[in-house]
Amino acid sequence: MTNGGLFAGTGAFYARFRPGYPKVFFDDVIRRFGLDGSGRLLDLGCGTGQLTIPLAGHGTEAVGMDPEPDMLTEAAQHAAAGKVGNVTWVRGGSADLSRQPGRFRLVTMGRSFHWMDREQVLRTLADTVEDRGGLVIADDGCLARSTTPWQHIIEGCSTSS
Ligand SMILES: C[S@@+](CC[C@H](N)C(=O)[O-])C[C@H]1O[C@@H](n2cnc3c(N)ncnc32)[C@H](O)[C@@H]1O
Repeated sequence: MTNGGLFAGTGAFYARFRPGYPKVFFDDVIRRFGLDGSGRLLDLGCGTGQLTIPLAGHGTEAVGMDPEPDMLTEAAQHAAAGKVGNVTWVRGGSADLSRQPGRFRLVTMGRSFHWMDREQVLRTLADTVEDRGGLVIADDGCLARSTTPWQHIIEGCSTSS
């Protein structure tokens, strides 16, 4: 199941407006999965790299995978701007997972798992993830913080009424 086209043309907006995840979350993931440069990360449905880039920036070799080319273009530009060079950007969706060679310490899916054939993904990942590794399925219900001007405006409206 790949949502070809659904996100077409949204990459620039995601890169600019999509809230990121808090540092405390990344610190916790890095500690739990021992991301000390020895294992690899796969970020499936990476979008413009909100998870990939901070985790790769810590020194973890990463693959950012997404079916939408716009997203990957924005992600690559953002990574280059931040001098994060250890990410391979791959066009593909969850249906292409089995074509990813090698094993991964950690597979992340940030605000993307719900778009996938979840059973197929979990079955495929069972053979893809290292024994001491795992999955992080992140949503923004409790993780995303108001980081953008538009979010601060909305917060201001809801607290002032
Ligand atoms: C809401 S964005 C999330 C981007 C980023 N991971 C984040 O945390 O903000 C969802 C992403 O999932 C991707 N996507 C949609 N269907 C997918 C599938 N079947 N397999 C992998 N990625 C998919 C979309 O192209 C889009 O970039």
